[in-house]
Amino acid sequence: MSVRRRPYETQPHSPCLNLHPCPGTPTPAHSTVTETHVITTSGLTKVYRSRGREVTALDGVDLHVREGEVYGVIGQSGAGKSSLIRCVNLLERPTSGTVTVAGQDLTALAGRGPRAGRELRRARSRIGMVFQHFNLLSSRTVRDNIELPLEILGTPAKERSRKALELLDLVGLADKAGAYPAQLSGGQKQRVGIARALAGDPKVLLSDEATSALDPETTRSILQLLRDLNRQLGLTVLLITHEMDVVKSICDSAALMDKGRIVESGTVSELLATPGSELAAALFPVSGERTGEDRTVLDVTFHGEAATQPVVSQLARTYNIDISILGAAIDTVGGLQIGRMRIELPGRYEDNVVPIGFLREQGLQIDVVGADAQAPVLVKDGAK
Ligand SMILES: Nc1ncnc2c1ncn2[C@@H]1O[C@H](COP(=O)(O)OP(=O)(O)OP(=O)(O)O)[C@@H](O)[C@H]1O
Ligand SMILES: [Mg+2]
Repeated sequence: MSVRRRPYETQPHSPCLNLHPCPGTPTPAHSTVTETHVITTSGLTKVYRSRGREVTALDGVDLHVREGEVYGVIGQSGAGKSSLIRCVNLLERPTSGTVTVAGQDLTALAGRGPRAGRELRRARSRIGMVFQHFNLLSSRTVRDNIELPLEILGTPAKERSRKALELLDLVGLADKAGAYPAQLSGGQKQRVGIARALAGDPKVLLSDEATSALDPETTRSILQLLRDLNRQLGLTVLLITHEMDVVKSICDSAALMDKGRIVESGTVSELLATPGSELAAALFPVSGERTGEDRTVLDVTFHGEAATQPVVSQLARTYNIDISILGAAIDTVGGLQIGRMRIELPGRYEDNVVPIGFLREQGLQIDVVGADAQAPVLVKDGAK
């Protein structure tokens, strides 16, 4: 898991951590999000059966993605992320449960006999899909790759060509129409993959680890492109990833998957404001070892007004206690600045109930760190 952390004292904005978009960071995409659910799964289950063995990849997943948002699904390798995204566009037939995209029940379509194939293909053409390894045809030029889904839909040649050039322009590759995939960099190939996914004017874009094969700088530019498309076209993006930085930089909402289930979900700001949220801790970890027995360690998250108050010195003065700062960080999550600090108070938890209450009264979010607490492990190395 790669989460960028920066020391508190190097921050130009410190100590004022107002939760407003800070200068120089992209404005969050919240403004385009509506309360309409454009992707809904209910009780989605997927059991793979092979050679007499059964694997339950999805175990009753209820997912609600709002129109216009970028929604990230994160989880360890094998958690069921790819199965989920493949069930959303029915590339994989769910074992049970329903999938509704843009008001259309895809599971009902898939189950409706021989004619359903064509209807489902049509519905699927309005769901763009971007893959980790681009899946471009090497024998076709960039333009012909983008035209492919339109050929399948029976779009006339002139219209296909116009659309392909328009999309190439949109993804910043207007000069590469005649190139072959082998002549492109990874980032350029992914831009072609994204342009191809947009050919059917989809309402939603599904992305399965679209940036996992790319270097960090190219990852940033592809994420920026996805965010721009989300905002410019009002495109809803459901992306799965094992990189916290992806969630952090472009997602409005996120869900954590574990063993085929969604164990946490919400908007990024809701998650950050949820005490004990595993996702929040992984999105924004703060570390620091307790210095001995009989100490109380607290993670303090700064929200809104509280960020501007000198609460630590007030606490020390009011209760006449020495407070150690074990670690602190400030970062930008979803375009909002947020601060976290790990502090240590003398005495056990029972001795500190009143000071902890004082901090909570100041509007701070307080997580008591257990003696055996460790940084959460959501995603192991090697997850793809
Ligand atoms: N076609 C298949 N046949 C049998 N089992 C499968 C199949 N596809 C996935 N699985 C199993 O289903 C579970 C979930 O797999 P899935 O690919 O959805 O996980 P994931 O979260 O995308 O993992 P990763 O991060 O490694 O891509 C795993 O145990 C996997 O082995
Ligand atoms: Mg996967």
